[in-house]
Amino acid sequence: MKQCTMNKMTKRVQFEEGDVKVSGAIERVLLDEEAIAARVGELAAQISADYADAEDLVLVGVLKGAFIFLADLARHLTVPHHVDFIALSSYNRGAVSTGAVRLIMDTRASVTGRHVLIVEDIVDTGYTLDYLLRNFRARKPASLRACVLLSKPECRQIEVPIDYLGFEIPDVWVVGYGLDYADRFRTLPYIGALKREVYEE
Ligand code: PRP
Repeated sequence: MKQCTMNKMTKRVQFEEGDVKVSGAIERVLLDEEAIAARVGELAAQISADYADAEDLVLVGVLKGAFIFLADLARHLTVPHHVDFIALSSYNRGAVSTGAVRLIMDTRASVTGRHVLIVEDIVDTGYTLDYLLRNFRARKPASLRACVLLSKPECRQIEVPIDYLGFEIPDVWVVGYGLDYADRFRTLPYIGALKREVYEE
């Protein structure tokens, strides 16, 4: 199986304060604040148009990675909507995702009969989104779509439909704007590529 630079922790890393200086850990800025904001605005406009007649739209953010994307996207929507969240845990074997996903926190409210838009930060192998779509389809929503900020097509192990996509990116470990490495760098305002030495140490 092809190995990929998945945005997942495959080993435990202990960070001491100042262990990795943010500026020194970033190889390059992939998407700056302006590029992200412009694309999020476009996605929100498209979603607002598509759901103009939807009675009950619920955005389901996938924690933790999607929290910033969802917050920005939701505030640009011009249609009424609700916000809910789920949290998942995925299992990895060595450096390779097994594809097994476990739901560790469910939505607060039922989604049956509602228009569900899953909001994800990134699709790598596709296992997580595939699990989510199967899981939510079983709940009998009025409709089910996915809005994803980043996609790494080179990493795909299973094909998944993405209805709204921000950017396709190369196979690099990205952090910032919600995305992490060892739960760090999530609140960087831009999306940066992590230096290989940081995650291959
Ligand atoms: C990341 C990301 C997606 C998933 C995509 O979550 O937020 O949910 O991996 O990977 P896949 O397409 O290979 O399944 P992660 O497990 O890193 O958790 P986090 O969002 O809490 O950082």
